[in-house]
Amino acid sequence: MDLGASEAISAKYSTRARLFAPPLGSAPADGVRINFDQGLPDPSLFPIDELRRCLDATLAEDGDEALRYFGAGGPEEMQYGHLGLRAELARRLAERDERALDPAGVTLVNGSTDGLALVANAFLGPGDGAVIEALTYPHTRRFIAATGATVRTVPVDDDGMVVDALPQVLDELRAEGCTPKLVATIPTFHAPTGTVLPVHRRRALVDMAVEHDVMVLEDNCYYHFGYDTAPPPTLRSFDEQGVVIQSDSFSKYVAPGLRLAWVAGHPAAVEGVVRARQDFSVSALLARAIERFCRSGDFDRHIELLRARYRHKRDVTTAALREHCEPLVAFREPAGGFYFWLRVADDVDWLHARELAAADGVAVRPGDQFVDGDAGPRFVRLSPIQVPDAEIEPGIALLGRALRAARRDHARS
Ligand SMILES: Cc1ncc(COP(=O)(O)O)c(C=O)c1O
Repeated sequence: MDLGASEAISAKYSTRARLFAPPLGSAPADGVRINFDQGLPDPSLFPIDELRRCLDATLAEDGDEALRYFGAGGPEEMQYGHLGLRAELARRLAERDERALDPAGVTLVNGSTDGLALVANAFLGPGDGAVIEALTYPHTRRFIAATGATVRTVPVDDDGMVVDALPQVLDELRAEGCTPKLVATIPTFHAPTGTVLPVHRRRALVDMAVEHDVMVLEDNCYYHFGYDTAPPPTLRSFDEQGVVIQSDSFSKYVAPGLRLAWVAGHPAAVEGVVRARQDFSVSALLARAIERFCRSGDFDRHIELLRARYRHKRDVTTAALREHCEPLVAFREPAGGFYFWLRVADDVDWLHARELAAADGVAVRPGDQFVDGDAGPRFVRLSPIQVPDAEIEPGIALLGRALRAARRDHARS
């Protein structure tokens, strides 16, 4: 291949392709042995046998129906996805959130990353305003910014989004001539901070959304990973007006390589999402197999198993951080989800510590990837979930050694 042609080809990129930088790389660097960097589910727990049975049964029982653009659910399956899985999800979400939902309020998407981008594109464009959390999932920030909307942030504290700060930000957007339309949040086991928005803030957020006439995007992909107690009801449970649009995914609950997720909410909101899409929805074969996985009870059993196994990882991580890293890092034990959010002590040269940890084969995620502004460099996101249990404590011991070696007064002491 003539690689010299690359420049001539890229000169023909559309404006969108030129301006829209490639996604942040999240592959581990070479030499990483213990990877606390990525927020991935534990691959040793992927339900491979159950998935194989569901795929086999789908092909055996549904035959060519499973391999067409759409099946008995009609051509709208090309926009919304396979009806059977949407009906199953609608039933589950209606029960969990104690709020009615029918399949017209659910669309299947190719991973929640796809869903988040579609929601951004469904509601936002130049002249619109969006509010995100000052710390958030970087792809959401990127998708929202790429719409051309004006983006503002609200702070996140130990209880998640500082909801009281929202009205002023919305007013400021209006004063700048923008129409605020969307507030994006991860209220439960937040990425990257692990925080949980308490009930009074949830209620206040939904009320504010109604009052200010904006939609709320609830990224809910860690909701069922509560290790101590069940989390508070979802934002959707407080939503009587249809302002909440909820994004969720099989990535953390089953496997990210499925690229299967959903967006749920008021049928008009979901129709907006479907209008923004540029595909014929998701694989019908996969959606049918996952419907079987859900209906058989395997899905619920699997989540139970993950919760127990991940709770153990969380506990081992807490103990190891206390033993090896405190007081050079400060943290709150997360009540659920995948992430520890560590604040590195001021007397540690964190960039140096990171290099030392990397030289020992230990990777963590720098906090600055989640932040607009300069608060990030003193923070680290650490996920133990995909790390084999036996490697968690040794990995954190190496991190502790790197932190101690990078103390600014280390050379003198
Ligand atoms: C907060 C949050 N939202 C969305 C996603 C995307 O997941 P997926 O696209 O695999 O469903 C992730 C993945 O790490 C995440 O942490």
